[in-house]
Amino acid sequence: MKGIVLAGGNGTRLYPATLAINKHFLPVYNKPMIYYPLSVLMLSGIREILLISTPRDTGSFKSVLGDGSRLGIKIDYAVQERPGGLAEALIIGEKFINGGPVCMALGDNIFFGHGLPNVLGKAVSSIEAEGGAHVLAASVPDPERFGIIEFDAQGKALSVEEKPKKPKSNWAVTGLYFFDGQCSQIAKSIKPSARGELEITTVNAHYLEQGKLKASALGRGFAWFDAGTHDSLIEAGEFISVIENRTGLMVGCVEEIAFRNGWIGPDALAAIANSIGLNGYGKYLLSLLKA
Ligand code: G1P
Repeated sequence: MKGIVLAGGNGTRLYPATLAINKHFLPVYNKPMIYYPLSVLMLSGIREILLISTPRDTGSFKSVLGDGSRLGIKIDYAVQERPGGLAEALIIGEKFINGGPVCMALGDNIFFGHGLPNVLGKAVSSIEAEGGAHVLAASVPDPERFGIIEFDAQGKALSVEEKPKKPKSNWAVTGLYFFDGQCSQIAKSIKPSARGELEITTVNAHYLEQGKLKASALGRGFAWFDAGTHDSLIEAGEFISVIENRTGLMVGCVEEIAFRNGWIGPDALAAIANSIGLNGYGKYLLSLLKA
């Protein structure tokens, strides 16, 4: 399976913090926001990634992440000219997707929980074996703000709606979408919503109509953040700092995941650690070599 990270948008909900910087470079505690969705793709076993950003910011992503070889992965880049909606990424990425299965991660979504790699692995296998679409659902107190999904005990979706006024459930569709190779064609066939965007929820609704939309619930023990507002950004940062400082283990540490997946060796990890220096982050990476 391939992966897409969508890191576009103007970050207007974070103005003025994002006037000069793409929001996905803002720190969530000790690392740039973009590390978190990248780490989720890597935990899903995905090594071929397309990063989509704005005309202004794509170059900055290239200078930070390069071609991905430092992490034992391959990163390509594409530009979204204007914020045309999440589903537009599936059109921009059509050649990259090339009719195969793909996982799209939103650049501002952060996931944490014991057993997350199992949940991700199940979603990957279900798409690779049966096709269709698979989303992760998280319980939220404010369902009017999200894509909302209803599903049965087997995870088969019953309804999906974007920011409903009368939500049918409290299960938000999180920003991690697993699709079969039909997704680009579906994205090309849909019309923009009232806010003028190609909505990913409309793509999901097409899969639902075909009876091919599934959800995995992220129940108790999981935390999900959409770090695109001032409050959620600081909450996510506080959460990560508490978890990391209490457990001594990092969350969203792409270098660690590359190392543990066997995609880079000890010398490569040591070189990254040395380039970061002996702050907490660099020392953590060096400590992995001794474990
Ligand atoms: C988008 C999606 C929504 C989803 C959310 C998750 O919302 O449209 O369905 O629940 O991401 O972060 P937006 O951030 O565009 O308002």
